[in-house]
Amino acid sequence: MYAIDSPSSKSIYADASTKQPAVGKRGGMAPEVFDPQVFREHAELAITRLEKYLADSSIRGLALTAPSVLLQTAKKLMVGEYESIACLDKERLTAIIDLYIATGIQVHSPGYMGRQFSGAIPLAGVIDLVSSIVNQPSSFYEAGQLPNVVERIMADEFNRFIGWVPEQFAMVTTSGGSLANLTAILAARNDKFPHMWSEGAAALTGQLRPAIAVSQDAHYSICRAAGILGIGEEQIIRLPVNRNKQICIKQVRPTLEAAAERGLKIFCLVASVGTTSVGAFDPIDELGEITREKNIWFHIDGAHGASLLVSDKLRHKLRGIEKADSFILDAHKMLFVPAMCTLLFYKDKAKSYGAFRQEASYVFEKESDIYTEFDSAEKNFECTKRPLIMNLWVVWALYGKALFADKIEQLCQFTESAYQILQNEPDFETLHHPEANILCFRYLPENLCAWAFPDFQVEIRKQIRQAGKFFISKVDIDGIGALRVVFMNHQIEVGHFRLLLDEIRATGQALLKGSKSDD
Ligand SMILES: Cc1ncc(COP(=O)(O)O)c(C=O)c1O
Repeated sequence: MYAIDSPSSKSIYADASTKQPAVGKRGGMAPEVFDPQVFREHAELAITRLEKYLADSSIRGLALTAPSVLLQTAKKLMVGEYESIACLDKERLTAIIDLYIATGIQVHSPGYMGRQFSGAIPLAGVIDLVSSIVNQPSSFYEAGQLPNVVERIMADEFNRFIGWVPEQFAMVTTSGGSLANLTAILAARNDKFPHMWSEGAAALTGQLRPAIAVSQDAHYSICRAAGILGIGEEQIIRLPVNRNKQICIKQVRPTLEAAAERGLKIFCLVASVGTTSVGAFDPIDELGEITREKNIWFHIDGAHGASLLVSDKLRHKLRGIEKADSFILDAHKMLFVPAMCTLLFYKDKAKSYGAFRQEASYVFEKESDIYTEFDSAEKNFECTKRPLIMNLWVVWALYGKALFADKIEQLCQFTESAYQILQNEPDFETLHHPEANILCFRYLPENLCAWAFPDFQVEIRKQIRQAGKFFISKVDIDGIGALRVVFMNHQIEVGHFRLLLDEIRATGQALLKGSKSDD
């Protein structure tokens, strides 16, 4: 039996050091590794461990381990056999699976309130396993027939809530929201500066400088995309935000006009629904009008909030989404499937081919046919691509969209309740009215001297993470640290949130006591 103590002396990790691996023969093709029966045994072993993990509804956040300790633990789980193929030891496999589970953020626990990745729907994980075993790179129809057809189906399903002309819009899946934002902004640049793909910066001689306009609160992937595209920090125009951290619509025209006077050509305006920090929804309906009038590509980063499209009750927050030239949606956030699964939509199908150009006779055909017409490789950056859509489609196909809508509505409603609770707690300050399932606040007890302890909120978050019961995050709001919760799993109840507040109070008071005794 493997067992070692972690530094916190919890025996959650296994120790392989005491056990030498059985050594198999060399030569041949290690048939056991590909044996279907052996696969079944390994899968059953993993599923048994995962069932136990899912059944555990205790409140837990993250068992944070020193990397040096984890490194040693992981090394000890390796067989260390180089000359011969080792015989697989099930205890060692179990220990690795347990270690993997135990060292992760416990996303299915009610203690997890920290980030935007979800407590994923287990069935979606089962489909992920199928995808891994059949292992088809889905950028090409010939290798990913079902995924490519299903992408069309899911595009049409979402278009029921968008209202674009069928057959004239397009959707492609990409590995994450960051890559989807980059892809869309590249498509926008190529659309407005058509020679840049072939001539690079030389195409700009004598022209206005390309620039993009983004919210002050935009996700960092937007600025990264601008960096990758050579747009340059100075050409990123920051649109001011209002008290609710939404782009302040009154200031948009003057800001765009001032940029034009500086010799900038804003080719793309990026709005967010919702923002990463507080989940704010920019006024996309009005922004859609302004960008149309000024002939600017309108991109909406809906990584977090565009999933609200599926809810009849909440869809109104996305009024105007049909005006976007492109928008993205991370199904691995608010549609509760395992990462990655990002959907990138284009209003104009022809423009979905605009991001990339390529020639590669080994994969691309000169003439398209009924099969290659379904390839997505010309539209996405990846060559080998996971069949990203499958996890989403299978759950959607078997349960219907109401499953997603209910879960989203429940979490948004829950966030509103959490906000109301905070309103009635005089030692807490709320910082915004939540629009979805992200909520930021501060613990400000009477005995806190804020200027003497500027990192108070950040320190609380650090201590809470270390204690391991709850996992929450932090963010700067108006330059000052705040606590941030994101409700992403179905186990969460009001009682859990109250327990979190108690823990924040206890942690904060202990910190204040400690800082006094340090004086
Ligand atoms: C608004 C927004 N855009 C983009 C991203 C990046 O998405 P991904 O993590 O899938 O790359 C995030 C992630 O948190 C986000 O909140």
